[in-house]
Amino acid sequence: MGIIFDEKEKVFTLHTVNTTYQMKVDPYGFLLHLYYGRRTEGCMDYLFHYADRGFSGNPYEAGADRTYSMDVLPQELPSNGTGDYRSPAVIVENTDGSYGCAFRYRGYRILDGKYGLPGLPAVYAGGEEAQTLEIDLEDPVTGVAVTLLYGVLPEFDIITRSLGLKNGGKGRIYLKKLQSACLDWVGGEFDVISFYGRHAMERNLQRLPVGHGAQVITSRRGASSHQYNPLLILAERTATEDAGSCYAMSFVYSGCFKGEVEMDQFNQTRALLGLSDEQFSYPVEAGGEFYAPEVVLSYSRKGLSSLSQNLHRCFRTHLCRGKYRDVRRPVLLNSWEASYLDFDGESIYQLGIRAAELGIEMLVLDDGWFGKRDNDNSGLGDWYANEEKLGEPLEHLARRINDLGLKFGIWFEPEAVNEDSDLYREHPDWVLTIPGRKPIRAREQLVLDFSRAEVVDHIYDQMCKILDAGNIEYVKWDMNRSLSDCFSRTTQDQGRVLHDYVLGLYSLLERLIARYPDILFEGCSGGGGRFDAGMLYYTPQIWCSDNSDAIDRVRIQYGTSFGYPVSAVGSHVSAVPNHQNGRVTPFETRGITAMAGTFGYELDPKKLSAEEKEAIREQIGDYKRYADLIQNGLYFRLTDPFRQEVGAWEFLSGDGSEILVNAVMLAVHGNMTVNYLRFKGLPGGCMYQEQKTGKIYASDALMETGLPLPVEMGEYRAYQMHFIKIHSSIEIE
Ligand code: GLA
Repeated sequence: MGIIFDEKEKVFTLHTVNTTYQMKVDPYGFLLHLYYGRRTEGCMDYLFHYADRGFSGNPYEAGADRTYSMDVLPQELPSNGTGDYRSPAVIVENTDGSYGCAFRYRGYRILDGKYGLPGLPAVYAGGEEAQTLEIDLEDPVTGVAVTLLYGVLPEFDIITRSLGLKNGGKGRIYLKKLQSACLDWVGGEFDVISFYGRHAMERNLQRLPVGHGAQVITSRRGASSHQYNPLLILAERTATEDAGSCYAMSFVYSGCFKGEVEMDQFNQTRALLGLSDEQFSYPVEAGGEFYAPEVVLSYSRKGLSSLSQNLHRCFRTHLCRGKYRDVRRPVLLNSWEASYLDFDGESIYQLGIRAAELGIEMLVLDDGWFGKRDNDNSGLGDWYANEEKLGEPLEHLARRINDLGLKFGIWFEPEAVNEDSDLYREHPDWVLTIPGRKPIRAREQLVLDFSRAEVVDHIYDQMCKILDAGNIEYVKWDMNRSLSDCFSRTTQDQGRVLHDYVLGLYSLLERLIARYPDILFEGCSGGGGRFDAGMLYYTPQIWCSDNSDAIDRVRIQYGTSFGYPVSAVGSHVSAVPNHQNGRVTPFETRGITAMAGTFGYELDPKKLSAEEKEAIREQIGDYKRYADLIQNGLYFRLTDPFRQEVGAWEFLSGDGSEILVNAVMLAVHGNMTVNYLRFKGLPGGCMYQEQKTGKIYASDALMETGLPLPVEMGEYRAYQMHFIKIHSSIEIE
């Protein structure tokens, strides 16, 4: 059983196979955090230390006991108004204008299966796989009540945390801050690992020691953003890929967020993750409820690879949904870098012919097929086919592509609108703008007010007309700017708009995936500007970056792999010189890099040599052969491509019978030193045969000294090696 309540000690213990999480109701009804880490038995309340601490106040009930202070004790849901001066998870503005709120324990329920959240993405699991713990807390003065939600997935070493807040008082309150998860450690020295970036260079890794003074990652852009990913990893200072304690906190949400990590005056660390509190002031009427989006927690004492693998497995199988969750995604050719906005139906059809000849399985018509969209300053919002440009109805083009034996997919940017569009001319008040102010333009587009149901409904109707008319089997869902001017014309409470926008986005996605269960949806936001666990609930894959250069991609995909499975990473082979940075890399290198994701092409085969076309055929064959291993195998980072001259990663099948190792040379130099790739996670005492060379290697030696990479002339070479286990065990002398 994953969840235990000790009635006498009032201690809740959550067990997964390798981890334990514990909390305790104290004599005054506060819910204190006791422990999160490696699996253990017993009660850890001996960890608390009580002392009279100057300037750390005491709750009134503690009477003359000056040693009891919420400013010192670790908590499950720290709020303002309890005497805790560290950063709180909750700030409520009460009906009377006061800010105090102090939650006390009221009761609990243990339920089979994993809870869901209304209108929000969440990990899902049935009664066999998961349990839910609901803990009721209440502020006795205002009647504001919180139900803390814990989902425990023992086999996955995953614990999720969310909460529902109910206003049990008599008037409206405002949520000024509401974060979903809080980890309070009484000791330890941690590094915080986070992922920063920019458009076309997302998810660079930063590892810094946690110290005094908060480290904050945040998005105030309306989307989770290129700039910071909503993922925090707290690792022991000495933790590496292969050893040491580390914790992950991943926010299942696609809008503004805030993650905070800080060491307090007594060297205790607190990490918080949840909604951003900037421009956030969410009204909850008497009797009303608010659900905080979920945070997925995981712990491993076996280092960062194992921590990532926990997230990969959970997200791939218990967050992603739909027909394409478990199956190999079609190898696609996307028209964007082949022809940008300059095409007609016939040129797309010709692209289809060339794609089909090479064994590609789906043609995606990217931006430009709708409205008046000959350049990127018009047409967004008008989701009807531009038949004049195409020279034929879209469904006709879809049929012609299907007749080539290809699936057909299209691009949408449902949340955006150009001022030069019929939609904007008809409904200028449907965009996020502040009356009396000129809006911020980005890519000459504005953002529709998705907090309003009628706006979302209109886009839904337009999209359905297109998706009903033709055989469209894939949709790329883009969003090419950050939100600004977040003012909605239909509410007095502008502090709710940023969150309601995300709820509107989720509602549209939910309706569409329910109505079109066979369509493969791919998320995108100028590449990887909304690459988060929230979107994965609706779109099982996300275009990882607008940067398709293989060398930059090795680094971008490395950073992405800390939190997200390879099955979610949209990755394509594109032309050289690369359109984002002008770099020339070998075709093989581009193929191997793109195979660390949902594989495809983003180029015009017409411009390729016969040799390159042959390489495409071979790459597709390889990809199909390895797809199961790539999508479902254990993923190991073998090197750090930010610090080493080779980027390398490994896929290992669950039963250890197959290995696919990939390496990309990021630098060459004279009189080259040899790079040895040390494999990871292999069963000991086994022999593996590399399939191209026929050479046989011992698993222990592959993990100990590794395999020397060839020393060859030329920049950016790449190697892909496939090994099959040939003996289950050998005698080691
Ligand atoms: C974004 C996407 C690209 C492409 C363009 C089209 O930048 O990330 O892949 O779809 O929009 O405008």
